[in-house]
Amino acid sequence: MDRILIRGGNVLRGDIHISGAKNAALPLLIAALLTDEPVTLSNVPRLADVSLLLRILRELGAETALAGRKAGESPFTGDTVRIHAPEIVSTTAPYELVSKMRASFWVLGPLLARCHEARVSLPGGCAIGTRPVDLYLKALEAMGAEIDIEAGYVIARAPGGLKGARIVFPKVSVGATHVTLMAATLARGETVIENAAREPEVSDVANCLMAMGARIEGIGTSTLHVTGVDRLHGAAYPVIADRIETGTYAMAAAMTGGDVLLRNARADILDAFIEVMDEAGVSVTEEKDGLRVRRCSDALLPVSVETRPYPGFPTDLQAQLMALMTRAEGVSTIRETIFENRCMHVQELARMGADIRLNGDTALVHGVEHLTGAPVMATDLRASVSLVIAALAAEGETELNRVYHLDRGFETLEKKLSAVGADIERVSG
Ligand code: EPZ
Repeated sequence: MDRILIRGGNVLRGDIHISGAKNAALPLLIAALLTDEPVTLSNVPRLADVSLLLRILRELGAETALAGRKAGESPFTGDTVRIHAPEIVSTTAPYELVSKMRASFWVLGPLLARCHEARVSLPGGCAIGTRPVDLYLKALEAMGAEIDIEAGYVIARAPGGLKGARIVFPKVSVGATHVTLMAATLARGETVIENAAREPEVSDVANCLMAMGARIEGIGTSTLHVTGVDRLHGAAYPVIADRIETGTYAMAAAMTGGDVLLRNARADILDAFIEVMDEAGVSVTEEKDGLRVRRCSDALLPVSVETRPYPGFPTDLQAQLMALMTRAEGVSTIRETIFENRCMHVQELARMGADIRLNGDTALVHGVEHLTGAPVMATDLRASVSLVIAALAAEGETELNRVYHLDRGFETLEKKLSAVGADIERVSG
C-alpha cells in the first residue's frame, strides 16, 4: 500500500491548477444514462472514484472513451470523457461495486426513469456515518415507484414510467436531490422539489441536464421545478472547478505562510469559506486566472464555524480547517452538523501534537506553537488531506498511510504540492 512522506517547514509559493470537481463529475457521468445519445464531459478529474464509476456504467451498457493528456499539455487540465449508453443492457448495480463507491447508488434515478426498473445495492454506511437513503426512496415512491428491499438491494419498479410529484425534503440531501432531479427529467408531468440541495455541483448537473433538453427552473435555489420530457439528447459539458480542492489547497498555503495562485478556482462558489479565511487572517482574492491565497498577518487567528448545507461552510472542508486551526493563536470552535462521525481526524492530529478537545459534534481547537511529524493514518477522504495540511507545518517527517483515500478525491496531490515547494513524496509498496 502506498505511503506519503512529508517533511514540514517549507513555505508554499507558486501556482496550483484546480481540477474539475469530483462531486460534480460523478453525478454528471451518471446523468449520461438518461439518454441514448453520447454525452461528452470535459475537465473531468483523473481520480480513482471516476475510474470505478466508469466501470459500473460499462456494466450497465455504456460505452466510455477517455481522451487524456494532450501532447505538450502542461499542467494536466483534466480528461475528456465520452459516455454513450445507446441501450441499457443491465439494470443491476452490484454490491461489490456500489460498496466501493457509494455515489454509484445514484444510478437508481436514471435506471428507473429510463428503464422503469432498477436493482441497486444499498450503499451501506462508511467511516463518517450510517449514510441512510430513506429520503431517496421516499421521493421515488412519491413519483410512483414501487420500492422493495431484498437481501441488501433496492428493487425498484415503475410500470408505465415515473410521474411528476411534489417532493418536500425534511432535510437537505445532495444525493437525494441529484437522484430525484434526474428521475424527474423523464417523469410524466411536473415535479417540484422543495428544500433541494443548493450545492454548486447540483446546479452543475441541472445545467448539464438542461443542455440535454431537460426543462428545469429554479436552478441554484432550494425549490426546483421540473417539467418532464419524453427523451433527452446528448450534450457536451465542462465539469465545474472543484471548490473543495480549492479550499484545501488554500488552507495548505495558509498553513505554511505561503503565497499561492489557485488557477481555475472560483470565488463565487466559496463565499462562506472565504469569509472564514478572512477571520483567520488569510486573504483569498480574485485574480484574472483564479484565486490568490496568502497570509495577511503573522499569526493565524482562531475562528468559530459550524458546517452547513450550501451556501454554509462545507462539511467537506471541516477536517482541513481543523488542521489549520491547530496552529492558530487562540481557541477555535468547529461544529460538524452534517455527518455524525466526521471527527476521526482529531486523534490523528493529536498524534502530531495538536490540542483538540471533542465534545459530541463540537471540537475546541487550542492552537499550539508546534506540531511534530509522526506516522498517521487516513480514515476517510477529507480527513486524510487534513493530515497532509498539518504535516506541511510540522517539524520533522510525517508518514501518511492508507493514501488510497487521498487518491479517491485529490488528483496528483503530491505533484501539485511539490510543484509549489512542499517536501513531499509518495513511496510505493
Ligand atoms: C454528498 O454526499 C457528497 N458526496 C459528500 O462528499 C458531502 O459531504 C455531502 O454531499 C454533503 O455535502 C458526493 O457528492 C459524491 P447528503 P451525500 O445526502 O449526498 C443524511 C466527499 O468527501 N441523509 O447530502 O451522500 C446523511 O446521513 C463526500 O466528497 C439521510 O438521513 O450527502 C447526512 O447526515 C463525503 N437520508 C446528511 O443527510 C438520506 O436519504 C447529508 O447527506 C440521505 C441523506
